[in-house]
Amino acid sequence: MHQIAKELNEKLTGSVIPELLSDLGKRFYFPKGIISQSAEAKEKAKRLTATVGMATEGNEPLYLKSIYRDFSGMTPSEVFPYAPTGGEKALREVWKKEMVRKNPDMEGKQTSLPLVCAGLTHGISITADLFLDKGDTILVPDMFWGNYRLIFEERRESTLKSFPFYTPEKDGMNIKAIDDALEALQGGKAALILNFPNNPSGYSPTKDEAEQIVHVLKRHAEAGTKILVITDDAYFGLFFEEDTYPQSLFALLADAHEHILAVKVDGATKEELVWGFRIGFITYGGKDVTPEQYEAMEKKTMGAIRSSISNASKPAQSLLLKGLTSSTYLEEKQYAFDLLEKRYVKVKEILAAHSEDKNLVPLPFNSGYFMTFATRGDAEQLRIYLLDAYQVGTIAIQHDYLRIAFSSVDVDRLEELYEILYRAAGELWN
Ligand SMILES: Cc1ncc(COP(=O)(O)O)c(C=O)c1O
Repeated sequence: MHQIAKELNEKLTGSVIPELLSDLGKRFYFPKGIISQSAEAKEKAKRLTATVGMATEGNEPLYLKSIYRDFSGMTPSEVFPYAPTGGEKALREVWKKEMVRKNPDMEGKQTSLPLVCAGLTHGISITADLFLDKGDTILVPDMFWGNYRLIFEERRESTLKSFPFYTPEKDGMNIKAIDDALEALQGGKAALILNFPNNPSGYSPTKDEAEQIVHVLKRHAEAGTKILVITDDAYFGLFFEEDTYPQSLFALLADAHEHILAVKVDGATKEELVWGFRIGFITYGGKDVTPEQYEAMEKKTMGAIRSSISNASKPAQSLLLKGLTSSTYLEEKQYAFDLLEKRYVKVKEILAAHSEDKNLVPLPFNSGYFMTFATRGDAEQLRIYLLDAYQVGTIAIQHDYLRIAFSSVDVDRLEELYEILYRAAGELWN
């Protein structure tokens, strides 16, 4: 193992982190190579710098006008150079400030500074690198984003073990299932990934359910289990009901117990409506984790970033920082929220009018981009039929569920969409 990795592991001693790290996570470090030598030169080499692998002209990056032309309002230095491995410091600080504003339960809690990665997929993937070994188990509710399979099962060769997301009555979250899944684990160690608002179901815990989830995790932690909880907050902010917990569970878990490490993976992708920018963030929170230990985890994570993508897009980070600090930002976010909320309300209204329909039974949802139907017959058969007979696209999840992204249908077309869904299901199964 590299000496720097050993030193970082040493710093982490005394926290829960060393017991949760994978072999790869233990080996990761941030080298004192080109990057740190360049940073040193930036401070001291006042005469000439011949360090980083970039081309310059005068004090500016060398660039092509035909590429620069359409970046109105940005200097070449905001567009063309490499971004730092962990991301632009100013963006990381603004993201953290915003995180606390949006999650007031985080107020006063110590966390790391968010690191910038290339979107949530990348953030989840390097978190998996850092914490999951071949053969490890990661718990996940049975409503989950399909890409977890590739990330955890194929890339990391760990096992996804699912537990029922909803109660048997389908009237809320199945907290007992989380409890049972933790109980069934051996070895004193657990990893769990929770995604709210959930893809595909569109459900987020109520305030009461959020408290219960944290309570269950704390109880297992108290009994000695070391727990890693990854919160995948891709759709954060789109909470449409009064009784929904309107924050990330990370806010409650960041200081829940000495045996719990929470990793918040979030990003600009959906929250800031910049799907193609590829900007995500990774933030650590654990009770009694010291600033030096957070810094050690930042270094390890930077090793994971450096060895996978090197650094995330510079122009995307510059644009995002400008947007987040713009005077009209909050107002524009409100506009987007209101637009999606109107669709949510409309979908609820349409579903209420079809509550007797047994072909398509909506599962509880209160947030996010999606809602899901439990289908009476084969969901894949319905999906194909919708495409062929009605030119309507939906997503079948295995054979039992049909996911509808109401986020991508204008409110005045929702009646038409749902009328077709019910009609097509009736044509197949009545
Ligand atoms: C639950 C969930 N997590 C993560 C992602 C990926 O986000 P990104 O595009 O930033 O990689 C998605 C995208 O669909 C998602 O649904």
